[in-house]
Amino acid sequence: MIRLGVMGYGSRSNSVVRHALRRVDPDVRVTGIVDPDQAGVRARLDDCDRNDAQFYPDLRTMMRRARPDALMIGTRCNLHTPYAVQAAAYDLPLYLEKPVAISMTQAQTLERAYRKARCPVVVSFPLRVSPLCSMTREFINRDCIGRPEHITALNYVPYGTCYWEGGYRDYNVTQGLFLQKATHDLDYMMFLMDSPIVRVAAMAARGRVFGGNKRAGLTCAKCREQDTCPESPANRQRNQSGGTLKDHLCPFGKDCGSPATGINEDASSALLEFASGAQGIYTQVFYSRRDAHRRGAIISGYQGTLDFDWTRNDLKYIRHHAPFSDTVKAGEGLSHFGGDLELAYDFIGIIKGRGRSRTTMQDGLRSVYACLSAKESAEKGRFVKVRQID
Ligand SMILES: NC(=O)c1ccc[n+]([C@@H]2O[C@H](COP(=O)([O-])OP(=O)(O)OC[C@H]3O[C@@H](n4cnc5c(N)ncnc54)[C@H](O)[C@@H]3O)[C@@H](O)[C@H]2O)c1
Repeated sequence: MIRLGVMGYGSRSNSVVRHALRRVDPDVRVTGIVDPDQAGVRARLDDCDRNDAQFYPDLRTMMRRARPDALMIGTRCNLHTPYAVQAAAYDLPLYLEKPVAISMTQAQTLERAYRKARCPVVVSFPLRVSPLCSMTREFINRDCIGRPEHITALNYVPYGTCYWEGGYRDYNVTQGLFLQKATHDLDYMMFLMDSPIVRVAAMAARGRVFGGNKRAGLTCAKCREQDTCPESPANRQRNQSGGTLKDHLCPFGKDCGSPATGINEDASSALLEFASGAQGIYTQVFYSRRDAHRRGAIISGYQGTLDFDWTRNDLKYIRHHAPFSDTVKAGEGLSHFGGDLELAYDFIGIIKGRGRSRTTMQDGLRSVYACLSAKESAEKGRFVKVRQID
């Protein structure tokens, strides 16, 4: 049995335990939990955990009493660093949700805490380890396109309303969607280009689509416009436009924040310079719906172009100097395109002493530093250098 101690057992932790860790090793048990919402957690726990799982007020007490074999941090974004800094003292394998930090102060505190820590960390970056991304990297390693010179990555998010109608609307917790969302994409872009991002210029559109003047706390059930508003559960169902079909907070509400006080961006883009000299572009759009969904990248060098997309679920390889192009199809139906399962293989392997992390704390920090530079660039309207780590 693998005894897991979890800080923040919300929907993501539950999904990772149920659909990924236990698929790799059915003997994973949640035995210790630090989470103030005991009722919510109990409702979420799988049957096999109900007897063993105990609640503790803090990590120290959980370490002493539950004696876990490994730790998981799945709280909301602002608490990842404080818990990870505490966890650094215990040398246990740690599964850490992204983003690993939400501010420069947090990131540097984390960097210092893990400089000497021996605790192996799996940062929850499923895209980097997904089979399609790994396959793309293999093509690059085999010199199929020559030296990678350019990458364009696109993220048209069809479920973006969740960043205005639930807990993610709280800007103090997210600090915007570069940190919340692009942290995945900038990470896999650095992985594919085999080079860190050193400089960023970014723009962000805020308060143009979501946010607005509807009264604070308004939900669809209390709204007089629910027959005409495309975001009401009834209209979403009728239009098959996605998003929750339960009553939810208004994504056009005052309490979404504002450009002056902080609000998630409707869309944001970044121009990237890699240490290798290569260039990149990243764009994320949060009001997309239905078939507009796209997430993937085009990477090119003098010899060829690779074009993969997780929603299309394939990789195209175009030779520039020969009349041949290939399409490689990927398998279907895996969570986060197979990446969650790959992270689970890494984490369980480390716990059993025979694996290594492909998504380390350094990777998590590199991505956060690039996202923080993008955020700062969008605020200041100029290029911003990215803090580098070894
Ligand atoms: N890697 C991925 O692909 C991926 C996907 C989804 C979410 N996430 C990340 O997972 C994290 C959690 O998201 P979620 O949707 O599960 O949120 P959630 O609200 O469902 O879960 C958060 C949990 O933390 C608990 N919590 C609150 N305060 C706490 C405290 N002081 N100590 C311990 N626990 C506390 C809450 O009660 C809740 O159970 C977010 O940071 C999000 O960015 C990552």
